[in-house]
Amino acid sequence: MARLDVIEVFHGISFPGHLHTQESLQLAQKFPFKDTDILIASYPKSGTTWMQQIVTLISSKGNPNLSQTVPNWTRAPWLEQYYFSVLLEASSITSRVITTHLPHHLLGPALQGSKAKVIYVSRNPKDVVVSFYHFHKMANFLPEAGTFSEFFNRFLEGTLSYGSWFDHVKDWTSHTATMNNLLHITYEEMSLDLYGTIKRVSSFLQSNLVEDEVNNCVKHCSFSSMKNNKMVNYTLIDEEIIDHSKGSFMRKGKIGDWKNMFTEEQNQYFKSVFKSKMQDCTLEFVWEEP
Ligand code: A3P
Repeated sequence: MARLDVIEVFHGISFPGHLHTQESLQLAQKFPFKDTDILIASYPKSGTTWMQQIVTLISSKGNPNLSQTVPNWTRAPWLEQYYFSVLLEASSITSRVITTHLPHHLLGPALQGSKAKVIYVSRNPKDVVVSFYHFHKMANFLPEAGTFSEFFNRFLEGTLSYGSWFDHVKDWTSHTATMNNLLHITYEEMSLDLYGTIKRVSSFLQSNLVEDEVNNCVKHCSFSSMKNNKMVNYTLIDEEIIDHSKGSFMRKGKIGDWKNMFTEEQNQYFKSVFKSKMQDCTLEFVWEEP
């Protein structure tokens, strides 16, 4: 069997070669956004699939039909992946929902001048590294995870697929003040107040919902509902690509799982790296542990 975990290096950042080519990455940078587009941007494992589900449900006024019949990668395809143009062409949705893991410095020029609505999703990086580690163990299209300690160091160095979490978050969030078509939502907000988050996102998308519709969105965006929904839990993907015997995509869905994984020494080291790398970031993080 051909190896799945080949890497495509683009502008110094590694991308899984199973999903990306130089051409698909270049095309993403030149994508002609329409003002009606909705773009979900995130570093992996930050709640991307959750936001795709939220946006689908808001656009459907809480009706779960689309979210239960069409896979998330078809209804909100990844801009930089090689099958993007085929999916976009096949899409019958008037307001296109597009997803990206690209850092802002690679996509910013394509977005310039566009009124496309951008939702940036971030998550406590300690939980991101833990979630990403578990995902690497089951995703055969990603490089070997190695030990947690090795993976942890690669995350802090910014050498994992999709690059540095620190640069990704700093870059995207630094535009929240100047771009009024950019909404920053955290995984923690979604987790602590899903109802409020759905109201916030729907108002940003100018798709105001009545209370029953918001409640329906909440119901079909809950962790238990999404864990059992084949259109978002990735069980439709072949065992060869994602080994479902090694874990599940909808793994825990919790805030603070890093506490079960980090040693005290790792926690102290993480904090010091975070402090130094984020010192020029003015954003207040809601995920500081108590
Ligand atoms: P865990 O591995 O910590 O469970 P992404 O979609 O960006 O790859 O993020 C995946 C992470 O989001 C996984 O985290 C997954 O369980 C979590 N997630 C997805 N849907 C969720 C939901 N409805 N509620 C809580 N967490 C959710």
